[in-house]
Amino acid sequence: MGDIIVIEDLVKTFDGKTAVDRLNLRIREGELFGFLGPNGAGKTTTVRCVATLTNFDSGTITVDGYDLVKNPREAKERMGVIQQQVSLDKDLTIRENMISHAMYHMMGRAERDEKIRELSDFFGLEEYLDRPVDSLSGGWKKRAAIVCAMLHNPKVLFLDEPTSGLDINARRLLWDVVRRLHAGGTTIVLTTHYIEEAEALCDRVGIIDHGRIIALDTPQRLCESVGSVAVEYMEDARTRYRYFGTREEANAFAAGINTGVDVTIRRTNLEDVFVELTGKSVGGQK
Ligand SMILES: Nc1ncnc2c1ncn2[C@@H]1O[C@H](COP(=O)(O)OP(=O)(O)OP(=O)(O)O)[C@@H](O)[C@H]1O
Ligand SMILES: [Mg+2]
Repeated sequence: MGDIIVIEDLVKTFDGKTAVDRLNLRIREGELFGFLGPNGAGKTTTVRCVATLTNFDSGTITVDGYDLVKNPREAKERMGVIQQQVSLDKDLTIRENMISHAMYHMMGRAERDEKIRELSDFFGLEEYLDRPVDSLSGGWKKRAAIVCAMLHNPKVLFLDEPTSGLDINARRLLWDVVRRLHAGGTTIVLTTHYIEEAEALCDRVGIIDHGRIIALDTPQRLCESVGSVAVEYMEDARTRYRYFGTREEANAFAAGINTGVDVTIRRTNLEDVFVELTGKSVGGQK
């Protein structure tokens, strides 16, 4: 399959401050792509540029072959987005929000009602449909926003931290939806701070820092790139991490650590990769 999203030299600044710094990225049709990065790295800004929710300074973006600047309407038609900050119209009910979203995408009434019924049922939203947005808790608003974004069957779905603030049931439901959409051929771009979510779901992961992609590969190959075997131990009251290509090398290193120190040898995970590459803990300081 070809690349459905092509981003070339994307630059976005806010008041002279660079949020996205000549970012290049190609996302393949049908893939489930994960975006990881520290707070403020530029993930949301990049997603907002591609999803036409904000303009950008320079560079080019094409979606399904349509240039965002020359053919915005065609590009928009192909995308659905669940924003980090849920953007439902507070003056409307949940159902009215869904209807207005469907009208924006020129969906027929029968198809619209059927999709609203199907997705509301799936997310357990029926009893909330006729309530004003603000009477719902954050997690339920998020579920409603997810339904809105999926209503018009977009070819590409952006999910910017879709599961933050969701309870465990809703998170699992969302994972199921994501897997189902992925199996059906939808391209999904998922931003998350939950490493296990990226590991469980994503075909490829891009790590973004300071507005640039600093690593991009399958979760497994990213782990291999720092060393597939991790040694974790305490030294000077701090947890230290060392990575090795083989278990033998890791064992040899562990054997040289002072006796009496707790040593764990385990497989490297994406969290290790993240910390190694960005030097910050996941979901670090806001
Ligand atoms: N509307 C805005 N006005 C001014 N600066 C902004 C705006 N939106 C984002 N920024 C800045 O752009 C940079 C990138 O922010 P962005 O929201 O894209 O990061 P992020 O990777 O999504 O972070 P998080 O993990 O916290 O969601 C940050 O320095 C942020 O302060
Ligand atoms: Mg963000």
